[in-house]
Amino acid sequence: MARTNKIIAIDGYSSCGKSTLAKALAKELHFVYIDSGAMYRAVTLYFIRNGIPITDTEKVTQALAVIHIDFHNENGRTVILLNGEDVSEEIRQMYVSDYVSEVSAVKAVRCAMVAQQQQLGQRRNIVMDGRDIGTTVFPDADLKIFMTADPKVRAERRYLELKNKGENITLEEVFENLAHRDYIDTTREESPLVRAEDAIVLDNTDLNEEEQLQFVIDRL
Ligand code: DC
Repeated sequence: MARTNKIIAIDGYSSCGKSTLAKALAKELHFVYIDSGAMYRAVTLYFIRNGIPITDTEKVTQALAVIHIDFHNENGRTVILLNGEDVSEEIRQMYVSDYVSEVSAVKAVRCAMVAQQQQLGQRRNIVMDGRDIGTTVFPDADLKIFMTADPKVRAERRYLELKNKGENITLEEVFENLAHRDYIDTTREESPLVRAEDAIVLDNTDLNEEEQLQFVIDRL
């Protein structure tokens, strides 16, 4: 049966401002925002906490069967729950960022997350951001945006964000983490980060949040 709900897919490199734009867009259009990266981060956190090696297929499969990820809204803020626990803050920490690309390159992890994401996109109007939303999760999305920005600008933005949260980190460490994640995300075998042929490129190096939002609205 043909889909009747609207889906907007926003893909792109790490720390390009995908989630900021996706949230603003969801608010403007009254759509539900789904952060697919947060789901990979929650799985990564579970693997770290429970010592699951990504090379152990059996343990990975067993773990995926007991991992439940939910989003819920708390006073306008989206909270991510890992088996009922609010992990919204913890999944943003550097020790999770350092390992998330390795975990998200595992085929079984991707299959489980893609299935959940497709489920979340049924019957609701959504904005979902990630790396493979326009190519794999919703190849039939109504609008696809592919975001990019100067790597130095991305690192500076992310550095300031982490510093404001009190993380003890250097700009170089952030830059290296982003370069490492870009490399794995674009070269992995399973649905690597690539621009969908029909995605519109949005380079936001010199654009503020309002300009980015307008850019998308103009293309709806
Ligand atoms: O968007 P983010 O930086 O929070 O995503 C964290 C990691 O998850 C990122 O390094 C790559 C991975 N990811 C993915 O492989 N596919 C997605 N759809 C979303 C994120």
